[in-house]
Amino acid sequence: MGRWLVLGGTRFLSRTVAATALARGHDVVCVARGESGDIPDGAKLVVADRDVPGSLDVLRGERFDAVVDVARMSYAWVRDALDALAGDAAHWSFVSTISVYADSATHGSDSSAELLAPLEAIDDDHPADAPDTYGALKVAGENAVRATFGDAGLVVRAGLICGPGDLSDRFGYWPARFVTGGRAVVPDTPGHPAQIVDVRDLATFIVEGGERRIGGTFDGSGPRTTLGALLDEVADAVGAPDLDRVALSPDALVAAGVEPWSGPRSLPLWLSAADQGMVARDTSAVAAAGLRARSIGDTARAALEHERKLGINRERRAGLNPSDERTILASVAG
Ligand SMILES: NC(=O)c1ccc[n+]([C@@H]2O[C@H](COP(=O)([O-])OP(=O)(O)OC[C@H]3O[C@@H](n4cnc5c(N)ncnc54)[C@H](OP(=O)(O)O)[C@@H]3O)[C@@H](O)[C@H]2O)c1
Repeated sequence: MGRWLVLGGTRFLSRTVAATALARGHDVVCVARGESGDIPDGAKLVVADRDVPGSLDVLRGERFDAVVDVARMSYAWVRDALDALAGDAAHWSFVSTISVYADSATHGSDSSAELLAPLEAIDDDHPADAPDTYGALKVAGENAVRATFGDAGLVVRAGLICGPGDLSDRFGYWPARFVTGGRAVVPDTPGHPAQIVDVRDLATFIVEGGERRIGGTFDGSGPRTTLGALLDEVADAVGAPDLDRVALSPDALVAAGVEPWSGPRSLPLWLSAADQGMVARDTSAVAAAGLRARSIGDTARAALEHERKLGINRERRAGLNPSDERTILASVAG
């Protein structure tokens, strides 16, 4: 069994990676401030604030069989971690994103597609909330990992991560809405592409990647499907008997002020044509490398359990609230 270091470990993906590595018998050290939550039972927490340069020096010289870094919005974090720890790490995984690509519209692209220009720091010209900043920072992080580990480093460009622990309110909107029943607004776009990855499957791939010393760059998502098929699977898995899906055209949704993907008054997983390539990626390479994607129904059931813990009637970060949905349904009926 190995000694693992998870840079993170207190929430969602990095926590699931730590829990998965523990369940497979590894010793796991997590590094975090401890502000987002608890680490899994059995792991050890090293408290550090990565915004402080050199904060990982406390671990310098310690040998790890595998290191997993999920640094989200900071190239400096990636660089600091590599400087302090790469020399004593047998394997390194960096969690990147499908937002690294220059083109979000084309369907069927793979990890060889053109990338955004790398960005090493947020500045006035590249503010944190600009559309490309997140992806461009991840490109710089990927490059740093490859410069250090070459093809032996594992770069996983995650797609939409779903399932237990998700705090983004996106995928979970659908099981939460469908279990409630009644008339539910859905986009009338059955052929619209859709693609997700369950956090447990992605974590297992990352942990197996460390165990098997997998190297290379992969789009970390499940197989392509359609939004129509995905919503059917969610409804079959959790839908209330009186659920009545009211399909509205994209034009009607836009006219009603409904936003795509995320945020208030949105329909999660629905995208403009310019962004639909993000959920239509060719993920055959990651499947061949070992990512096993469970059924969408299974993810929906687990997401619903998590939604119930959060409170289905809470104010959401994404989706339609009941009052917005009633207004929209009334406006289309009239
Ligand atoms: N969600 C998606 O659908 C999606 C899609 C594509 C890619 N991704 C990528 O997937 C990864 C998700 O990672 P995640 O689920 O573990 O969530 P995350 O929000 O990226 O948090 C990861 C960890 O960072 C720690 N952290 C935050 N600020 C810190 C600081 N200043 N110093 C030290 N640690 C700090 C947090 O712990 P503390 O707050 O306790 O310190 C937490 O454990 C990210 O790389 C993200 O970019 C996500």
